[in-house]
Amino acid sequence: MANPQSPNPLREGLRMQRTPEPNTVVIFGASGDLTKRKLVPALYNLELERLLPNSFAVVGFARRPIPDEEFRKQMLDGVNSFSRNRPAQPAVWESFSQGVFYNAGNFDEPEAYKRLSDLLNRIDKERGTGGNRLFYLATAPEYFPVIVKQLGMAGLNKSPNGGWVRVIIEKPFGRTLDTAVELNQTVHSVFDESQIYRIDHYLGKETVQNILVFRFANGIFEPLWNRNYVDHVQITVAEAVGVEGRGGYYETAGVIRDMIQNHILQLMTLVAMEPPANMSADAVRDEKLKVLQSMRPIPPDKVGEFTVRGQYDFGSSGGKPAPRYRDEPSVSPTSNTDTFAAFKFFVDNWRWSGVPFYLRSGKRLPKRATEIAIQFRQPPLQLFGRMADHHEPNMLAIRVQPNEGIDLKFGSKVPGQSFNIRPVKMDFRYGAAFGAEPPEAYERLQLDCMLGDATLFTRADEVEAAWSLITPIIDGWAASPPTDLPNYEAGTWGPKIADEMLGRDGRSWRRL
Ligand code: BG6
Repeated sequence: MANPQSPNPLREGLRMQRTPEPNTVVIFGASGDLTKRKLVPALYNLELERLLPNSFAVVGFARRPIPDEEFRKQMLDGVNSFSRNRPAQPAVWESFSQGVFYNAGNFDEPEAYKRLSDLLNRIDKERGTGGNRLFYLATAPEYFPVIVKQLGMAGLNKSPNGGWVRVIIEKPFGRTLDTAVELNQTVHSVFDESQIYRIDHYLGKETVQNILVFRFANGIFEPLWNRNYVDHVQITVAEAVGVEGRGGYYETAGVIRDMIQNHILQLMTLVAMEPPANMSADAVRDEKLKVLQSMRPIPPDKVGEFTVRGQYDFGSSGGKPAPRYRDEPSVSPTSNTDTFAAFKFFVDNWRWSGVPFYLRSGKRLPKRATEIAIQFRQPPLQLFGRMADHHEPNMLAIRVQPNEGIDLKFGSKVPGQSFNIRPVKMDFRYGAAFGAEPPEAYERLQLDCMLGDATLFTRADEVEAAWSLITPIIDGWAASPPTDLPNYEAGTWGPKIADEMLGRDGRSWRRL
């Protein structure tokens, strides 16, 4: 149900009343999946929650010439199929869709940008959108520089009347350090850094933002959040799905570019960063950048020791047979693309020196689960003798998704006449505490961009620092092609070598 009024007192004041200035969002790549599944449903939900300004419009930009009405219909289908609040409420959709338009054109065609410019001026006049524009680049990455240059040539990087112009750029931002630097240069030749919003949708997830609150708004965790008390950290981003018809793209990316360079490293920065001086975009991003810069690089000749590659074979998923990666559409039958990867990183600073961070992500794992686990050191247990035989070290697990929540495992005396110890848990669940589904990441992020808040977007230097870590690994992998792929059955927790990497350190992956 839309906008439920929960009686739960913890939800009081939860809806932030932040309304952006009137504006128009232009989505490049309007015929793509992302627009239909995520971007337009997110805008619709913002409208439903009355978080959009009264004067607002959306323009879809893609190649195929279709009338506005047809585009509106496609977007309504998207909302009805994918919105968290569905189906669309007729009255809300009716008023929202009056501000939805379509502009057909090739991304490299100057004339198409002239038409866009005329359309935006007309919308400003007719709907009062004030010359404020948000360009959302949701296309294949090869078009990012093309579109940015065309926007510059058409003068669309500036508002006609002193309003704001911002650009959201989807991932992947570059393919290597060099290409990311080049893309940054191209974008900076047209837009100022303050206009650029590089999106990583993991930062828009409620549970990911809560890492900052959990760490820095509570007195009892942060004092322990360092090498004196933490044994190691594990970050898992597991997916049950395969490549879902995106084989062509995935062949050029692999899990390392699809998930590690961006989503997992972003989670890692939030777990490892120092407290920022305030919550401003630059204060937060300065601290995240320092984490990336303090991470020990894995040189190409050390990839065998600190990284693991995997690719899924035949197996099962959700009780049904699942194909192997090499048989997926648009995938080479001899592909060596990674669908699983695991890493051991160190952060060489005063807080984390010597504490391993184990990261893993993969497709066709047994379930969808994103979790950050902080394993604390075991205290001396000598005094309990054999009674502590089953005692496990304290573990704090942040469940990013699904079953969003946090649990803390600790030892407890088993009731009875002895001091036998068993692990028990304290468990916080978002659903139980707040009684409502959190908003989708793309709602928060599009709204933040309209409000000019870049805290949850990545800065140029941050993206480049992430590529500085990942590029030598990609080079090392290319220099020693794997001979054992595919090396894990679909529906299992990845290749055995991933277990062995932790086993060598006397540790094991958490069973999720
Ligand atoms: C995207 C990747 O960035 O994130 C996809 O390209 C992946 O391959 C998706 O499935 C996962 O996002 P979420 O929000 O479902 O965890």
